[in-house]
Order: sequence, then structure tokens, then C-alpha cells
Amino acid sequence: MQQLILLTGASGGIGEALVEELAGYGDMILQGRNIARLEALAAVVEKVSGGASRAQIWAQDLADLVTLRRYLSSLPPASVFIHAAGQPLYAPFLKTEEKDWDALFKVHVKSAYLIIQKLLPHMLSRRYGRIIFVSSLWAQVGAAGEVAYAAAKGAINALVRSLGQELSGTGITVNAVAPGAVATRMVDHYLEADARQSLVEKIPAGRLAQPSEVAHLIRFLVEQSSDYLTGEIIGMSGGLH
Ligand SMILES: NC(=O)c1ccc[n+]([C@@H]2O[C@H](COP(=O)([O-])OP(=O)(O)OC[C@H]3O[C@@H](n4cnc5c(N)ncnc54)[C@H](OP(=O)(O)O)[C@@H]3O)[C@@H](O)[C@H]2O)c1
Repeated sequence: MQQLILLTGASGGIGEALVEELAGYGDMILQGRNIARLEALAAVVEKVSGGASRAQIWAQDLADLVTLRRYLSSLPPASVFIHAAGQPLYAPFLKTEEKDWDALFKVHVKSAYLIIQKLLPHMLSRRYGRIIFVSSLWAQVGAAGEVAYAAAKGAINALVRSLGQELSGTGITVNAVAPGAVATRMVDHYLEADARQSLVEKIPAGRLAQPSEVAHLIRFLVEQSSDYLTGEIIGMSGGLH
């Protein structure tokens, strides 16, 4: 069955891998802020799918709820929603400003709440839907210096468990993949080389995850055969706990 997939964070490292993994699976709405990047990825969708799938781009700052609500008023009825948008916030708790805390929760949590509110009636009438988050190991184990980020991912985990329960038996599944550290800009751009190296040394697998590995697991969650799997936070941390 051809699906319409709404992918936030498409312009990111994990998002790009998801575009390649899912391009043949259905039409896509690609969200991000970098328009040039999104346009290039829309071309990838058409190329990888051999023209079978189309992509539209959605340039949006997810912390801007005014323009987000405006866009959602005409959101096409996607049956797969993958929330891979996210930004880190490296700051000790007492230096975490309220405006930054709020913006982070809008990007990670509130935007997803608004999108799901919009898509769910359609998924329910179709008796099929997939809601998938990219969470983080940090929500489970805690992250000193990243309290807001870990708290936002913790909220996502509780949302996934609760909504998964609430929707079980409806044909709609709600799950999260929770990586430890993935080789994307989020790690490369924000971590100094020595901090990155000491992170790698803590990972039993001895390396960061590749974005394609995360995308592969998410593809399984999208497939019809994963119907019994719901309300789960699936860790993917190379053995780090
Ligand atoms: N990399 C890791 O180690 C790791 C580990 C665990 C979980 N995660 C999670 O995985 C997801 C994807 O991260 P990534 O590693 O692919 O990072 P990334 O390469 O930095 O990509 C982040 C994506 O989120 C989008 N984004 C960030 N802030 C946004 C905002 N305010 N409004 C709209 N879009 C925004 C970016 O859009 P633009 O680039 O267009 O601005 C980009 O598409 C995130 O939820 C992250 O928390 C990552």
C-alpha cells in the first residue's frame, strides 16, 4: 500500500538516512529549516523510487507554533509520522534559560502533540497508522549538562508508552527508537574532538551508530508486519547503558 510519510528533521543526518530508506515506500513530506537541503532530498526521493514516490518540502521552525498551526490547517493526511527533528541544548541546569527550555520542548514535544492531534483522526478512520519518534538513551540514563534535552526526550518516552497503550488494537502503533550516539552533525558540530573520543571510548561497540542503522530499524517499525509492536522505546546504543 502506498503511504504518505511525514518526516520531521528530514534535513538532518538521521533524516537523510530515512529519506533514502523510505523513498520507495511512499510519498513524503520533508520537514526541516534548510530549504536547499530539503530540495536536494526531494530529488533523492524521486530518484531512489524511480519516480514512483513524490516529495513535498515543508520549511518550518518547529519552535514557531504560530506558523506551525497555520501549516497544520492544511496538512495532507499522512499515515506515517516520524518525528526526527531535534536540537541539543548543552548547558548546566542553572544556566538553562526559560526561553531555551520552552523552545526545546516545542521542537521535541509540543510540535509532535499538535501534528498527532491533526493526523490521528485520519489514521483511526483508516485503521492504520505509524507514529515513530527518535528519542535518546539520555532520557533513560540521564545526561548531566543536558537536563532540558534529556527531560524533553523523557516526555517523548512517556507519550509513546501512554499513547501506544491508548491506541492498541486500532491498527496504529506508537514507538520510539532511542539511540545512544549517532554519527551526525548533532555530535560532530557540538562536541569537541576529545569529548567525542571519550564518548566513543565509553561505548562497548567502540563506535558511534551510523544514521543508516537507525533508519533501518525505523523502517521495520513502519512496516505492516510490526503491527504487534507498540508503546516501546527501542534502545540502540552499541551496548552503552
Ligand atoms: N546524533 C545523535 O547522537 C542522536 C542521539 C540520540 C537521539 N538523536 C535524535 O535524533 C534526531 C535527529 O538528530 P540528528 O542526529 O539527525 O541531528 P541533526 O543532523 O542535527 O538533524 C537535526 C534535524 O532537526 C531539525 N531541527 C533542529 N531544530 C529545529 C527546529 N527548531 N525547527 C525545525 N527543525 C529543527 C534540523 O533541521 P535543519 O538542519 O534544516 O535546521 C535537522 O533536520 C533528533 O531528535 C535527536 O535528538 C540524535
